[in-house]
Amino acid sequence: MNEMSTSSHAAELEASPICANAPVGMLAELTHRCPLQCPYCSNPVELERVNTELSTQAWCRVMKEAGELGILQVHLSGGEPTARKDLEEIVKAAVDAGLYTNLITAGVLLTKERLQRLADIGLDHVQLSIQDVDAENADRIGAYKGGSAKKREVAGWVKELDLALTINAPLHRQNIHNVEKIIDYAVEAGAQRLEIAHIQYYAWALKNRAALMPTEEDFMQTARIAKAAQERLKGILVIDFVVPDYYAKYPKPCMGGWGRGIMNVTPSGRVLPCHAAESLPGLTFDNVADRALRDIWLNGEAFNLYRGTDWMKEPCKSCARKEIDFGGCRCQALALTGDAANTDPACSLSENHANWAKVAREESHKPPPDFIYRRMGAKTP
Ligand code: SF4
Ligand code: FES
Repeated sequence: MNEMSTSSHAAELEASPICANAPVGMLAELTHRCPLQCPYCSNPVELERVNTELSTQAWCRVMKEAGELGILQVHLSGGEPTARKDLEEIVKAAVDAGLYTNLITAGVLLTKERLQRLADIGLDHVQLSIQDVDAENADRIGAYKGGSAKKREVAGWVKELDLALTINAPLHRQNIHNVEKIIDYAVEAGAQRLEIAHIQYYAWALKNRAALMPTEEDFMQTARIAKAAQERLKGILVIDFVVPDYYAKYPKPCMGGWGRGIMNVTPSGRVLPCHAAESLPGLTFDNVADRALRDIWLNGEAFNLYRGTDWMKEPCKSCARKEIDFGGCRCQALALTGDAANTDPACSLSENHANWAKVAREESHKPPPDFIYRRMGAKTP
């Protein structure tokens, strides 16, 4: 770690009105390998290969640097993080660094013994993804036979081991009819939190948009169901309901705002302001092998490009919400308008919004095409 660059930025850290002194969280994508093939995978279309992955030692050093930087939580993610044989060592390094550890997993590769080992090391939280509550449909969406049954088993182990549990259920037109049962599933599993997140359309999901986009009527119905459940289950289950951008009035502050609270480390060590940032052309991303995390967070070119509000064009530039949503998602703005600095078309004030809402309404009323599954090594369509 470069001590010079670390200490010389202390003054500007304190002076900065824009970014916090340290990100709150770090998403550590330990590998892009995954036994599932979800058509809405948020990993980049070009996946990183196993021979480019950071070593155990390198990940342990990243955890130490994250703790020293002041990061509070590490989200151990993928692909599927349990595909790494050295997960225990990486979790130990994170625990030793004082980080709150969250394992984001599909669960299908876990054994009870391994989860017990991770709990003994100090793992705090498990975020278990489900594709649906209908086993056949779930296994079809994830292209993994038996996955649904295994996930139920894993949810039971998480509770037995007294770890905190979040169920994460990405929602789309091919499971939206089961939203009530998904809420019941989370309650029965003893989860503290349920994330019902409508798909965001970039990377693989953009290729599958027509197969995934719900109708506005179905979306409105799920919003009503989720709102009622939030009231009914107060004190039992926290439900985070993420609306589909195409039917939104205003966008979400993607990643809490670019370079404000989260940093993302890819399997090969590139440090990104968001997990899809590599879709933005012309950006250079620093690697943990070459530069200290703190220096990257403060001075990395990619982190500063869309940090704050100075980069904004109209209508964001003079909008009262610009420090609420930070213009939405840069990656979606690029994917849908060709310019990452444009207002996210999820915003009703964007000149592109009406077109994209129209596309969503049309696509969602046609029969869904077949999924294009995320397959490592397969030719990109
Ligand atoms: Fe947010 Fe920009 Fe839309 Fe205003 S114009 S609501 S800042 S995205
Ligand atoms: Fe990159 Fe939203 S996914 S800014």
